[in-house]
Amino acid sequence: MKKPTSRSIPTGSRLGRRQFLLGAATIPVLPKLGFANTPTLTARPSRLQILPDIYPETDVWGFDGKVPGPEIRLRQGDLLSRQLINNLPEPTSVHWHGVRLPNAMDGVPGITQAVVDPGDSFTYDFTPPDAGTFWYHSHNRSTEQVARGLYGLLIVEEPDAPDVDHDIAVVLDDWRLNEDGAIVENFAQMHDLTHAGRLGNYIHAVLSPNIADLQQNQRLRLRMANVATDRIMTISLRGLAGAVVALDGMPLVAPETVDRLTLGPAQRADLIVDVTAEAGEDALIASHERDGVYAIAEFKVSGQSGRVPRGAVGPLPPNPIQPKTSVGEAREVALRMEGGAMGGLREGIFEGRKMSIRDMVQNGQAWTFNGVAGMTDEPLVNAALGETIRIPIVNDTAFPHAVHLHGHHFQEVQPDGAMGPLRDTILVQPGATQPIVFTADNPGDWLIHCHMLSHQAAGMKTWVRVG
Ligand code: C2O
Ligand code: CU
Repeated sequence: MKKPTSRSIPTGSRLGRRQFLLGAATIPVLPKLGFANTPTLTARPSRLQILPDIYPETDVWGFDGKVPGPEIRLRQGDLLSRQLINNLPEPTSVHWHGVRLPNAMDGVPGITQAVVDPGDSFTYDFTPPDAGTFWYHSHNRSTEQVARGLYGLLIVEEPDAPDVDHDIAVVLDDWRLNEDGAIVENFAQMHDLTHAGRLGNYIHAVLSPNIADLQQNQRLRLRMANVATDRIMTISLRGLAGAVVALDGMPLVAPETVDRLTLGPAQRADLIVDVTAEAGEDALIASHERDGVYAIAEFKVSGQSGRVPRGAVGPLPPNPIQPKTSVGEAREVALRMEGGAMGGLREGIFEGRKMSIRDMVQNGQAWTFNGVAGMTDEPLVNAALGETIRIPIVNDTAFPHAVHLHGHHFQEVQPDGAMGPLRDTILVQPGATQPIVFTADNPGDWLIHCHMLSHQAAGMKTWVRVG
């Protein structure tokens, strides 16, 4: 492993007085030379308070020992450079979700890089082209590693960011913990794999910065990210009113007002909201679950800011990607999702072998893309650079799936033929056929998989080759 130490002195060389003085004068500068100036991101075990204070701490795996990992914030056009150091007991990697980056930086073991073994390191270096809310997470054995805490937000700021009083990251997470605060270590339970995935029992929103006090008419930017391995979150706000300005890091052409916002695993939404609650009232973020509505973040509203409402929320400045207004000429590629419990489970191909349902399940496989569980030797499509690809995604299962394409953003084709917003992950409902369209303009081999990480582990993944 490369260690970020200061330069060593070749053995046998002798330091004269002059050299020594020079050396002494430059010592504070030395550690900044060479690779030591790459900031590190260390994946390691640690212990944190995840549950409320009356419960014990939780053993987690976090980047720099934190969950979420350190928020990486840069300006659009700035280089992102991080040396991943693996201090976990098993191999890992980092995927920069939603970033249209060079293929070699995509962090997918076996496709874009080798796994980073314990004690080893790997340097990620790229300039994110788009401003917006992105995230990074482990892409090795991610069902377990993301569930243990290996993720964080990546925020790329617009040069002309909208004027707000607070810019707050809202990381939505779902933990499966026991009453001792420990993570329940059943990451590949067959019931979870074949149903809606590994759902937790503690939904949690981590706000950063955590603003204790708000005032009426203050304007906030809320950058929400669903980092849960499998849970779809439905969010609403009280005492806060405004509009969604971006989805999956990409600005909406026009801000949209919604009562409830649904975020599948890996999806993000940027909202610009004004505090409408009066002093003494609460403003809150709520999560709608089957058994009720839970406040997952609360703000105190106090004092009088003396501010007047700021008026309508405007759009964010566009990113350097042009959303399509129609499909145009496109190559069609089929993608049919099958498998899972409740009617969908059927035999498929796994590792080149035709398998019965029993064999599939024994191999931890329960879902197929076009009849195949797991990675294929051949890509789903071999796209020419710049080619437009249309994939009607057919969900022939009893569960929703969160389909994510690496290295690109795509658009949904809506039932009336209109083009939806740019996304990197979409929810496809059971029984639905959801066509997506994208320009294959980023060369390399890119994964396309279900971001319900349990489903991915149980078969739902393939890849596309561009260029
Ligand atoms: Cu967010 Cu393939 O990953
Ligand atoms: Cu799925």
